[in-house]
Amino acid sequence: MTGLTVALIVAAGTGERSGASGPKQFTVVAGKPMVAHSVAAFRAHTGIDRVIVVIGAGQEAALTAAAGKIEHVTGGATRRLSVLAGLKAIGSADRVLVHDAARPFLSAVVIDRLLAALDGAPGAIPALPVVDTLAIATDNIPVCAERMEHDGAPGLLRLLGAGISRDNLFRVQTPQAFHFPTLLAAHCGWAGPEPTDDAQMIRADGHDVAIVEGDAMLEKITYPADFAAAEARRSVQMISRSASGFDVHRLVEGEELWLGGVLIPHTMGLSGHSDADVALHAITDALLGTICAGDIGLHFPPSDPQWRGARSDQFLAHALSLVDAAGGILDFVDLTLMCEAPKIGPHREAMRARIANVLRLPISRVSVKATTTERLGFAGRGEGIAAQAIATVRLPEEEQ
Ligand code: CTP
Ligand code: MG
Repeated sequence: MTGLTVALIVAAGTGERSGASGPKQFTVVAGKPMVAHSVAAFRAHTGIDRVIVVIGAGQEAALTAAAGKIEHVTGGATRRLSVLAGLKAIGSADRVLVHDAARPFLSAVVIDRLLAALDGAPGAIPALPVVDTLAIATDNIPVCAERMEHDGAPGLLRLLGAGISRDNLFRVQTPQAFHFPTLLAAHCGWAGPEPTDDAQMIRADGHDVAIVEGDAMLEKITYPADFAAAEARRSVQMISRSASGFDVHRLVEGEELWLGGVLIPHTMGLSGHSDADVALHAITDALLGTICAGDIGLHFPPSDPQWRGARSDQFLAHALSLVDAAGGILDFVDLTLMCEAPKIGPHREAMRARIANVLRLPISRVSVKATTTERLGFAGRGEGIAAQAIATVRLPEEEQ
């Protein structure tokens, strides 16, 4: 397969039916904002060259907080207009996958199936066969109001009409994959009624759309109860892992003291190749440990001049992006600092806030503790500071 493949995630809806306090795409599901799941899934897939998110007006900061730095464009008043805005932002491409942010659990297997199907048809959609018996309702008949309340219409009983066959009926999901020029033409020339997906639009132009096997994990989050159902579906696929990290740096005069991403006034500072933030280094190693990705020295060699004086929060952010790429969810971080001075207590909350910010965690999931070593050893003599951290993540079962 050659040529450029772009993933377009539509996340510009208001999520009215979801009952969430804000747009549902930013609600935390399975450990991270909903939109961040599909961003990570597309980024991790080698067949996807570019990922663009379509957001509502003024949601740039919410998107960055949810998914980090990512290409985005402002959507429109309907899903169709949001997709159109995204297609225009793409400019040119060979293939495009259009995906609802409201379907967070996207697997690489579904992307593989769609891309393979595009070799034989200009469009491809994931779908699941309908397994329930289908019913058409007909008339309502009046009954005693005390006996029956139905759909807010007291005293009416809905009746079953003729049966319909479920043979060849499918429930359609996203992502939907298309040859880019075909979808762009369908969108630009659209004059029909408001469509609920993109495949209908290229069908209306007479193009074939292949059906590939969908995934129960791709169920859309629409109503309030769907959040808990999604958490439950996801949790059976995840296994918890904890890993530790440890680091020591020497205290010297004439250096700034960076600890937990916070500049602390002190008579001495930590020396090292970067800013020597021993706390962030320990947490970085703990994160890397959860996915067996080596240690901080492997990713940021001290011999590399570009890391001289570097702020350590970028090391931590990188480790988090690797956990994300592995489909992981960071649940908790616990840090212990070992030093005689300075006193950590007055800076504890600032450190928790900074670490939580870099890790995109609520502050309640970051613990910072400190201890002296009873004047014993290098920490006790004030020659250096040691830090130990433990991170707990959930990883998809296939990553184990
Ligand atoms: N969407 C969009 N732009 C719109 C409307 C919807 O990008 N103007 C996106 C949603 O963000 C969602 C997907 O299209 O990812 C599917 O739409 P839906 O589930 O209906 O989400 P909402 O429109 O946000 O929810 P509701 O209809 O309950 O308001
Ligand atoms: Mg909608």
